Amino acid sequence: MTSTKKIFMTGATGVVGRALLSRLAGDKRSAGKNMPQVLVLSRNVSAASEPAVKFVTARLGEPENWRHTLEGCTEVVHMAAQTGKARPAQFERVNVEGTRNVLEAARAAGVKRFLFVSSIAANYPELAHYPYGRSKRDAEQLVRESGLEWTIVRPTIVLSRRAAIWHSLNGAAGLPLTPVFGGGRARIQPIHADDLAECMATWIEEPQFARETYDLGGPEALSFGEFLGRLRARKKRSPGALLPLPGKSGIAVLALLEKFAFPLLPLTAGQLYAFVHDSTVQPNALLARHAAKMKNIEQMLDDLLKYD
Ligand SMILES: NC(=O)c1ccc[n+]([C@@H]2O[C@H](COP(=O)([O-])OP(=O)(O)OC[C@H]3O[C@@H](n4cnc5c(N)ncnc54)[C@H](OP(=O)(O)O)[C@@H]3O)[C@@H](O)[C@H]2O)c1
Repeated sequence: MTSTKKIFMTGATGVVGRALLSRLAGDKRSAGKNMPQVLVLSRNVSAASEPAVKFVTARLGEPENWRHTLEGCTEVVHMAAQTGKARPAQFERVNVEGTRNVLEAARAAGVKRFLFVSSIAANYPELAHYPYGRSKRDAEQLVRESGLEWTIVRPTIVLSRRAAIWHSLNGAAGLPLTPVFGGGRARIQPIHADDLAECMATWIEEPQFARETYDLGGPEALSFGEFLGRLRARKKRSPGALLPLPGKSGIAVLALLEKFAFPLLPLTAGQLYAFVHDSTVQPNALLARHAAKMKNIEQMLDDLLKYD
């Protein structure tokens, strides 16, 4: 059976995107299914090992170099984003203006179905010092006003062996004392990248998710401190040896320092937001379809620590 789908993807070289491409390629290998054709926008990569995947080497901010490639596409999956440490203008340029460019190109090419990968952070109660969160919130608004058959997913913390956040947490958990901002009280609900990819593949395969926003997290919610304690226990370290660091006051101090010493700071005020706001999900239909099969914390740790 030949797949008639042709998908334009941004961000497919990142942690989430690579999990999604493997899921779609794995699906092809299972009996009787073909991988959809995928066009990947990337700034760097130009060749893929999978014949169904073609790369378009260009930047989100230069739509004149890639918008023609959306002709004939049936879906857009927009995952590309500025993440990590960057200045507010960079978040705005890539995450808000980049999303505007992809939406306009989709409309011009007549591609109706549009999946936007946002973040649970878009829904934090305040984002004053979190330009990434603001950029996701503002991009969501553009997506909702687009007139397309849009769907927004808001992942929580995504864990994968490729994820920088995993390597930071794993490194911190191996220390004699693990520093944790906000006393480790914020609640999190990590999701394995493969489980997130499974949810996204369901969106690709089934048409019924239009005009909805879905939080996507794993099956277990716990505090940051508890998560680090469980990780420490797996590394044969005392689970309770956590060093509480300030949360809200840390944000206030970093926000001030960013004005004078941005390049020197190891992390930004925004990067502490996940330690002071809960990142747990609201139940929803897409999650309900997959929750029972998702990896819980111990299963995620089994997978992530396999090659430690
Ligand atoms: N990982 C998480 O914990 C997490 C949690 C919540 C939400 N999310 C969201 O999930 C999505 C994927 O995250 P991720 O962790 O997979 O990201 P990632 O590993 O940091 O990768 C970022 C991706 O964005 C692309 N990109 C960045 N700037 C671009 C530009 N100017 N033009 C074109 N492409 C650009 C990169 O492509 P090239 O380098 O190939 O150009 C790369 O594929 C993002 O929207 C992120 O905000 C992630």
